[in-house]
Amino acid sequence: MPETVSRDLRLGLIGCGVISAYYVRAIEKRTDVRITAVSDLDPARVPPSLVHDVPVMTNYADLMASGLVDAVIVNVPNDAHVEVCSAALNHDLHVCCEKPLALSEADAAHLTHQARTRGLVLFTAFHRRYNQHYIDFLDAGFDTASVSHVSLYYCEKIEDHCGRDRWYLNPDRCGGGCLADNGPNALDALMALLGPLTVDGVDLEVDDRGLDIRARVRLTAGAVSAEALLDWGYPDGELKGFVVRDKAGATTSIDYLRGYTGFKESLEHEYEGVLADFVARVTGAPRGAVSHCAPRGVGPEGDTVARLVADAYRQARPVPRIAVTGGLA
Ligand SMILES: NC(=O)c1ccc[n+]([C@@H]2O[C@H](COP(=O)([O-])OP(=O)(O)OC[C@H]3O[C@@H](n4cnc5c(N)ncnc54)[C@H](O)[C@@H]3O)[C@@H](O)[C@H]2O)c1
Repeated sequence: MPETVSRDLRLGLIGCGVISAYYVRAIEKRTDVRITAVSDLDPARVPPSLVHDVPVMTNYADLMASGLVDAVIVNVPNDAHVEVCSAALNHDLHVCCEKPLALSEADAAHLTHQARTRGLVLFTAFHRRYNQHYIDFLDAGFDTASVSHVSLYYCEKIEDHCGRDRWYLNPDRCGGGCLADNGPNALDALMALLGPLTVDGVDLEVDDRGLDIRARVRLTAGAVSAEALLDWGYPDGELKGFVVRDKAGATTSIDYLRGYTGFKESLEHEYEGVLADFVARVTGAPRGAVSHCAPRGVGPEGDTVARLVADAYRQARPVPRIAVTGGLA
């Protein structure tokens, strides 16, 4: 069982690619957390602002054994999450892991069990929970009882989002494609809105690289129907949001990216929320009291989402072409 963290939380950053920059900036804005060690297979990827200040280790095991960190942030490619998270938990370190927590429900369940047994926080970074438009929508009085249908869409061209080694384009490394990679954020968002979901059917379009390039997941939450529309081949930038239809037929559209005009700009504030929530869980601070932590930014844990994604793959029916309209049809 780890000691209670009573001083500044010392964080180890593992993986210094595209998404790590959002963590670094979020950490730099706080006075109660600091990065005390960094690991990447390629030391050239470590941000210049850290190179002179903290030890850089190419082997994450050295970082974990260093005694320099209380918790780690795991930003490595999807297929390496389980190995790195499991090693961190074995070193009695709290873990903030990028989504997906794992690529199989068995691995996600194993990590969850490991964390519980050791009394550690195992946190999956579902960053859309902290999106300001989503929070505003909840704060305006969203009531599940009035809803008949929710359609959530996640459209992007995956090549725009690849880091340097392009592991997203390898189905074995990303988990299969858009369902494995964007599915967790999409399903987390739907579960956070509607509660437990059942998968009713999945259409899956697979491209000639073997990647699922588009998916339509049909779901129910009690009497409410939902769908997640995922597109990795969207040619015109990004569309991410959801449409809620109430029982009277009126619709409300939430665009996660509205007003965030720069590429990935919304991630800046969303990762401040991720970090705040993780720190609160580790230190035991009341979650609502933490700056930029969504008061209702709660949802399922990573293992629950992994189970739902696995169920979606089990039910997937291959189709030649899925038309994704941004969920507005
Ligand atoms: N890019 C995005 O927009 C985005 C958004 C949300 C979540 N994520 C998630 O964040 C994670 C990282 O994605 P990314 O886009 O930053 O990838 P990336 O390829 O840009 O970066 C991954 C980094 O991890 C390093 N790495 C690989 N194996 C390692 C190991 N064993 N030890 C230490 N370092 C190792 C690589 O050298 C690389 O620098 C993924 O799980 C992804 O699903 C990414």
